[in-house]
Amino acid sequence: MSDRPITDPAGRVDVATATGAAGGPVSSSTHRREVDGQAQAMDRMYRLTRHVYDVTRRYYLLGRDRLLTKVVTTASTATLEVGCGTARNLVKLARRPEPGTLYGLDASHEMLETAAASIARHHVPASGHPPIVLRQGLAEQLDPRRMFGRDAPFDTIFFSYCLSMVPTWPGAIEAAMASLRPGGTLLIVDFWDQKELPRPFAAALKRWLSLFHVHYRPEVHEALTELGRSGRADVSFESVARRYAYIATVRV
Ligand SMILES: C[S@@+](CC[C@H](N)C(=O)[O-])C[C@H]1O[C@@H](n2cnc3c(N)ncnc32)[C@H](O)[C@@H]1O
Repeated sequence: MSDRPITDPAGRVDVATATGAAGGPVSSSTHRREVDGQAQAMDRMYRLTRHVYDVTRRYYLLGRDRLLTKVVTTASTATLEVGCGTARNLVKLARRPEPGTLYGLDASHEMLETAAASIARHHVPASGHPPIVLRQGLAEQLDPRRMFGRDAPFDTIFFSYCLSMVPTWPGAIEAAMASLRPGGTLLIVDFWDQKELPRPFAAALKRWLSLFHVHYRPEVHEALTELGRSGRADVSFESVARRYAYIATVRV
């Protein structure tokens, strides 16, 4: 994993490893090896596919734009996407008249290189708009201060088809909850159980999705439901395309 920060020629995009950004090394070498392990796995997965990612995924990562309509931004809000990939979602948010400050975190340095290039290509911020800040790091280690140099928590954090790929997803949810301001919102879009789709179609779809190493993780959905039941947050779900995917809105 490289510690080399990347900045676009106009200085608008700032990509750095979380370990090198805003506050020095994370901690022990064991810890660092875990970070490297997951990051390397993601780098291997996306090294080639990142180049065709946005074109191919538009057909099966459904509900992303609907999730974005739920992200409230003003000139003073701070919004983070965890597992931002190619920054497709952040670029869309950045086109708003008042996007606030946008942040992206991802395990894969390869993906972040594509994200930085995409931001430089598509997003010319209006004068006065802050840059989009990208950092390499793990969802389960999210720390606004260490990773992004922020003393204040985020207003909104979202995961778009990321949680189902994170082996230590409970830690990722906890870290996001702890990094939100009181009254802040956590949004998640991810695969659901496809129960309302015709059975043969759903079975074929599952087989096809498994080719891309993606699938529904019922335990994530159950943990989010439990968050609401326990009273720690207000949680609501909505279905995307007959339970192909769900969008969870979690207010802390
Ligand atoms: C399926 S892609 C989705 C990308 C983007 N959110 C979108 O909607 O197009 C999942 C992303 O999550 C990232 N990821 C996987 N595990 C992660 C982790 N533990 N911490 C941070 N990012 C992770 C991957 O590197 C990848 O970029």
